[in-house]
Amino acid sequence: MDHHDPVRRAAELRAAIEEANYRYYVLDAPNLSDAEYDALMRELRALEAAHPELITPDSPTQRVGGEASGLFAKVRHPQPMLSLGNAMNEAELREWRDTRVLKLLGPGVPVTYVVEPKIDGLAVALTYRDGVLVQGATRGDGEVGEDVTANLRTVRDIPLRLRDPRETGLPLASLIEVRGEVYIRTADFEALNERLAAAGEKTFANPRNAAAGSLRQKDPAISAARPLRFFAYGVGPFEGVLLTSQWQTLHYLRALGFPVNADARHFEDFEQVIAYCREWMARRDQLPYEADGIVIKVDDFEQQRVLGAVQREPRWAVAFKFPAREAVTRLLNITVNVGRTGVVTPNAELEPVVIGGVTVRNASLHNADYIAERDIRIGDYVIVQRAGDVIPYVVGPVLHLRTGAERPWVFPTHCPACGTPLERQPGEAAWRCPNFGICPAQLVRRVEHFVSRGAMDIAGIGERQAELFVTMGWINDVADLYSLTPEHFQGVEGYGPRRVANLLRAIEESKQQPLERVIIGLGIRYVGSVAAAALAAHFGSLDAIMAASQEELQAIDGIGPVVATSVVDFFSREEERRVVEKLRAAGVRLSSGAPRPSAGANLAGKTFVLTGTLPTMTRDQASDLIIAHGGKVTDSVSKKTSYVVAGANPGSKLARAGELGVPVLDEAGLLALIGAGDGNIEGERSLPPAPQTQ
Ligand code: IVH
Repeated sequence: MDHHDPVRRAAELRAAIEEANYRYYVLDAPNLSDAEYDALMRELRALEAAHPELITPDSPTQRVGGEASGLFAKVRHPQPMLSLGNAMNEAELREWRDTRVLKLLGPGVPVTYVVEPKIDGLAVALTYRDGVLVQGATRGDGEVGEDVTANLRTVRDIPLRLRDPRETGLPLASLIEVRGEVYIRTADFEALNERLAAAGEKTFANPRNAAAGSLRQKDPAISAARPLRFFAYGVGPFEGVLLTSQWQTLHYLRALGFPVNADARHFEDFEQVIAYCREWMARRDQLPYEADGIVIKVDDFEQQRVLGAVQREPRWAVAFKFPAREAVTRLLNITVNVGRTGVVTPNAELEPVVIGGVTVRNASLHNADYIAERDIRIGDYVIVQRAGDVIPYVVGPVLHLRTGAERPWVFPTHCPACGTPLERQPGEAAWRCPNFGICPAQLVRRVEHFVSRGAMDIAGIGERQAELFVTMGWINDVADLYSLTPEHFQGVEGYGPRRVANLLRAIEESKQQPLERVIIGLGIRYVGSVAAAALAAHFGSLDAIMAASQEELQAIDGIGPVVATSVVDFFSREEERRVVEKLRAAGVRLSSGAPRPSAGANLAGKTFVLTGTLPTMTRDQASDLIIAHGGKVTDSVSKKTSYVVAGANPGSKLARAGELGVPVLDEAGLLALIGAGDGNIEGERSLPPAPQTQ
């Protein structure tokens, strides 16, 4: 590419950006990473700033987003839905305040700011007449969007009818357009992809695409089955009410019944804004959704009006972007891993690349179909994304960087660990090694799972030890761990007497783990900490669970048909029953022991609300734990809330608890509460966070 001729370069940039827009907005199949796209836009803007004669009305800098796709009726937005300028660092943030805000308002004028998380989903506009939802539209290109009312109606946290906002002292607007973001939580996204893959359907590259794809379904029933959520962050035109600031608007929206992000803040001082941005960047990984930055808005609507917009970007708002969590790198090779249940997953070996401060060498490629659909080839430059705690994954190839030397990849026909021909169930995306329990690769994974913190919690055993035990032929199943003796370790480097004694003691002590831990440890498909606790609480012994029919299992609260089938299948296999017998013979506890009045249900009847960041658990883990012990978790604090569990940087829920006199616990308090009424052995702690299984 010729980077020196500005006319040609501008044309190239426009073509590349338009193509990227089309693929992103219309096809939902991005070919550029956000960072690459931003870089192209920035270069084009800089070029146009230096050569204003190059600006054409159709330049991508002159509009926002892409075209509506033709699937849905078009809707012209009565007020354009603007885009946001970016600040990449603190210096650019200060520059925005100085050159965009203070310069126009005047240096002496007091300005306050509202700071909100920038959720990575897609913007929509919801029109309510006399409190009733009459239209919902996507942003489209900012001027014209698509009418997706039927689909938006299926989003559970979008009110179809507004509540009376009397607590704000303001009337219900006769007309109001509410703007916000439709998104999917990270955990829901993963579950959705798993479900799609299992049904043999196309999976989504990231939560944003999943949200966009789910909303733009022709059949609203499909949208309804997708875990879409909504956050309201602003308004378009309104009548019959007078809103004068962003902060007031957020309160009003909350009173109308919209979810408003609890982490939004109002600051008088710009230094506080910057401090909050820093704090937020550090918390990014703990959020249950993908946030790609923070939006900073001038609070006062009159000041916003004075400031206006340039090229569809308001001067009164800016996005402080988090560092990119995607990068482009070379796909060096594709290898396969054999998982605990025999699922064979392709793994990308990458030229090491730093993404969001972490060096990434490997990334998931999901399954064979994923690779084929995206035509990912060895030698390709690929876009790699890393989101939260999720394993990084390959989004797709960067086609324009292909040289022709790339090689398509063929999925193996036999298990790389044991040579057994791989099988695929009709309708499933995954290939499996059917040599269950015997294939050494599966066995290593099963041992790792069995000893993990959320299962039998045997300290001192990890992947390396599991591999050692299996390759030395010491163990043929997880129960053989209990037959290990000091003699096994004789002469093995790195295993001195003290280490071996500790290891064997840890194994011995694990025999006293409660039943639900054993159930988790067995590694039954779909049975995690919640289902295991429900099974243990209901049946009280492994024998009773093994004897239960599909119907009996399904009758239990929290056990659905998929889990029930999986449990029955698991125990119908001779080799699994043998493992259970060996565990019994070794003295592992296979029943709840002393009758536990309502074992694991000592939070029954109690309702919890979680807020802030807990020291050792994610919010999902804490809520699993509460549910596993019979409690309920809800989103908002009311008089009926039994406890609010608060961590660092709690949201407004903590204040609400104070107002209503709801008791507040920290993480230790929650654990104590669970431990206290538990029928467990004294001093024994209840379930720790669920293990991170593959
Ligand atoms: S304000 C000036 N607030 O970011 C008004 N946008 O790049 C622009 N977004 O299209 C929107 N969270 O999809 C605003 N709290 C928030 C947001 C937010 C996410 C998205 C939205 C918008 C894009 C602008």
